Amino acid sequence: MTGVSKVLEGSILVIDDEEVICNFIKDALSEKGYSVVFATEAKKGFELAKLNYFDVVFVDLRMPEVNGLAVLQQLKRFDPDNVVIMITGYPSFETVKEAMYWGAFDYISKPFDLETLLFTTKRAVNFRRLNEEKKKLMEQIKQENIMLDKKVQERTEELRNMYRRLQMTFVSTIKALAKALEARDSYTRSHSENVTKYAVMIAQEMKLSEREIGEIKNACELHDLGKIGVHDYILTKTEELTPQEWEEIKLHSLKSVEILKPLDFLDEVMELIRQHHERYDGTGYPDGLKGEAIKLGARIIAVADTFDAMTSKRPYREKVFTKQEAIEEIKKKSGTQFDPRVVEAFLRIVDKL
Ligand SMILES: [Fe+2]
Repeated sequence: MTGVSKVLEGSILVIDDEEVICNFIKDALSEKGYSVVFATEAKKGFELAKLNYFDVVFVDLRMPEVNGLAVLQQLKRFDPDNVVIMITGYPSFETVKEAMYWGAFDYISKPFDLETLLFTTKRAVNFRRLNEEKKKLMEQIKQENIMLDKKVQERTEELRNMYRRLQMTFVSTIKALAKALEARDSYTRSHSENVTKYAVMIAQEMKLSEREIGEIKNACELHDLGKIGVHDYILTKTEELTPQEWEEIKLHSLKSVEILKPLDFLDEVMELIRQHHERYDGTGYPDGLKGEAIKLGARIIAVADTFDAMTSKRPYREKVFTKQEAIEEIKKKSGTQFDPRVVEAFLRIVDKL
């Protein structure tokens, strides 16, 4: 029981060349339950302080080999949290001030007043323990903050993934809708699929980035979605379309964008869809954009879209072009309907189609 109470009261190191002083402090404090060790040589005392934990270190200010202030500095350098009480025979204001400057906690003067010794020791031990507690708490808070940061990062990543999955689900649903729309009509079945294939091949040939190719792919799969808003009789009419009927068909690129509008993450894709019937010479629709004002992706889709339209059967057109005829048509329209750079890339890959 005594052993336990000693540890509880505090562990003390005394560094003083006078053994009688050491023993006095040892006896007085041991009596009150402290664990006390002492060293009569400063060097040995410092070694002890380095190897063991002490709540408080008493240091004699005047020792034959070394100045107590030097020992104080050594102790503070080794561990700034060391709590040091200076023992002084003749306390002058200057000495006390200097000791405080170097970080001494307090001082006691010889001859000792027992009550002061006990009181100062207790105060110093409390200070040290509070400081230790504070350090532990700070470390705990630091660790908890690290954990919290990690958790926030994990949750953010989870949310981001969920949002991405949600976006993909949205896009897949709409693509399925576009596909269903095409499948109703034998003339346009596989149209988007073909346009996607051709446009991606041209884009790859033109060395576009992965992101741009992804946008072109999405735009191709959704470009004619707006035809859902065009009357069926117009879409399936076998006679030549009237100018008004053409006007209605021409609205489909805007209608596609209108349907996709709530999905703002498809902004770039929507631009490509809006512009897929623009012509290089400015005679296209809906905005009559010209040349580089039309997005490159849209200029690519225009070639892919026309090539597939020409080579497949359409209700309003008797003639289905052979592959060679379609190529000739596209060549002929390079610089007017189509961007010559895109046509060149198309011609380089057309044999693979
Ligand atoms: Fe179209």
